[in-house]
Amino acid sequence: MVVAQPVSAPLTRAAIFLVVTIDPGPDHRAAVRTFCADLPGLVRAVEFRELEAGLSCVMGIGSDAWDQLFGDPRPAELHPFREIHAGPRHAVSTPGDLLFHIRAKRMDLCFEMAAQIMARLAGSVSAVDEVHGFRYFDDRDLLGFVDGTENPRGEAVIDAALIGEEDAGFAGGSYVIVQKYLHDLDAWNALSTEAQERIIGRHKLSDVELDDAIKPSSAHNALTTVTENGKELAIVRDNMPFGRVGTGEYGTYFIGYCRTPRVTELMIENMFVGRPPGNYDRLLDFSRAVTGTLFFVPSVTLLESLNDDAPAAAIADPASPVEPAALPSAVADGSLGVGSLKGEKRHE
Ligand code: HEM
Repeated sequence: MVVAQPVSAPLTRAAIFLVVTIDPGPDHRAAVRTFCADLPGLVRAVEFRELEAGLSCVMGIGSDAWDQLFGDPRPAELHPFREIHAGPRHAVSTPGDLLFHIRAKRMDLCFEMAAQIMARLAGSVSAVDEVHGFRYFDDRDLLGFVDGTENPRGEAVIDAALIGEEDAGFAGGSYVIVQKYLHDLDAWNALSTEAQERIIGRHKLSDVELDDAIKPSSAHNALTTVTENGKELAIVRDNMPFGRVGTGEYGTYFIGYCRTPRVTELMIENMFVGRPPGNYDRLLDFSRAVTGTLFFVPSVTLLESLNDDAPAAAIADPASPVEPAALPSAVADGSLGVGSLKGEKRHE
């Protein structure tokens, strides 16, 4: 049985996105390899202090880091984030060896989890980005629109996010792309509500999708709708607002999980280059990506075995069924967190 990391944990009130690089040297790489196996236990320890808070932590590993830490075999589609230049728009590619996506109902648990991770990795990694996100009114982003509505629900989450037979040795894993966006809120707020709605593709107050008759083909939700052989391809998002009022920083931390990075990359290309080229996402006239990184998210089963002498033993069992479980709460309630996949509850 392969147990997946909790990529599909329910939307939470608080989150920390922590990206670190591994310091050069074999000792530091060895420390990280050991840490991989220790993480599930560390999460259980912090989670158990307040089970009601629904703590979860997903760990991702960057392409270069994978090569340095584990070498072959490697996940089939793992590569560094591909930057895009299109006129004034730039999807930057920024460093990151490890991602920790920490979620809970309360920030204190997220904070404690992040602190424990950094304490365990002290001296071996350097933090390159740390964002503390919060859930804003009615699940809105700081642009004032409800964000997350068209996320897949129920079984569709697993279908969208988890690797299956196409890369059987890494089944139960996922790919995650993160981008930190900063908004020019003054310019955005100077637009009429109707102009904002045409950019996003939904009504601001009701969150209802704009009628096709008035929705431009450049709308955000039009350009991020992608299909293959007539089937719509989905990613699992959990964007979070963040900011600092003192310095006028207002942002959205984009995070998208998918069983293949191609889908998320295509959406980003549509946004930045446009579909057709030039018909780009006007959200980008008001939002600037300041980070961009791609990670592979191993299953818990694989994560725990990565420091073994023969990690291939866990990798090379394609026949194992995949359990779409939450990492720590799987143990806490014995349900393997499958309830979180049913889409029946937005805030746990
Ligand atoms: C500035 C950053 C971003 C903001 C503020 C933002 C905001 C939103 C909002 C308000 C919606 C409509 C509600 C919903 O269905 O969730 C939406 C939809 C969506 N966004 Fe974004 N988004 C951002 C970046 C991205 C990026 C980088 C991607 C993909 C790589 C993306 C993919 C999607 C998808 C797939 C949908 C659903 C489309 C549909 O099927 O209707 N978003 N976003």
